[in-house]
Amino acid sequence: MAIVCKSAAEIEKMRRSGGIVRQVLDHVRGLVVPGATTMDLERAAEQKIKDLGVKPAFKGYYDYPCVLCTSINEEIVHGIPSEKRVLKAGDIVSIDCGVVLEGYYGDAAITVPVDGSLTPELTKLLEVTEASLYRGIEAARIGNAVGDVGASVQEFVEANGFSVVREFVGHGIGTRLHEEPQVPNYGTRGHGARLREGMVLAIEPMVNSGSPGTRVLEDKWTAVTADGSYSAHFEHCVAVTKDGPMILTQ
Ligand code: MF3
Ligand code: CO
Repeated sequence: MAIVCKSAAEIEKMRRSGGIVRQVLDHVRGLVVPGATTMDLERAAEQKIKDLGVKPAFKGYYDYPCVLCTSINEEIVHGIPSEKRVLKAGDIVSIDCGVVLEGYYGDAAITVPVDGSLTPELTKLLEVTEASLYRGIEAARIGNAVGDVGASVQEFVEANGFSVVREFVGHGIGTRLHEEPQVPNYGTRGHGARLREGMVLAIEPMVNSGSPGTRVLEDKWTAVTADGSYSAHFEHCVAVTKDGPMILTQ
């Protein structure tokens, strides 16, 4: 399968879909307090998605059971919401959500502190991860390569003393959640597929405070850092346009 370029009308539809993902994330972020469970977040998201008249993208995707992924502390991505997971002061939680609107997908993630008591190291991890996403977005320009996106993320993260996950990557997105190309958060400038007008990329740096290694838990979904260090995750969908990168998930 080749990389599918989207028309202006399709990109407009993806902007609506992406805007709805953002509304869900904004709603759920307000519920992140000590004592809440990740299942509380899941229920609120599922209701909000219903109220907004769209379909969840993750639930049922390869048998994934929920509308959100909620990944706490050393969990990198794909944490499954659970009644048993209680958020506590000093935790960080990544919330990842996708929806489908009239056949077009939106996908975004944020990592938020559970309260105001983060260590300086964790505060820096969140700031650097989010800033690295914007470095990647800046590189999503006609004529650049996929490797320019990854290199931009990686150089910024490593200059700040953290590491990028290799085993999970961003992706093209459109009428499917995962389309070509894969969008690693590492790479070499000038390498990989050339970016063309109308491509839409989900750029999603996953950044570890320690070493980059990962493993997947017995639930077959939850990815965690191999060394137990913390991990943060931010994601936007971005269209490559004549006027530069256009963020669709805001
Ligand atoms: N944002 C993640 C991704 O793009 C979420 C996928 S979770 C799944 O891969 F359950 F849908 F697989
Ligand atoms: Co994604």
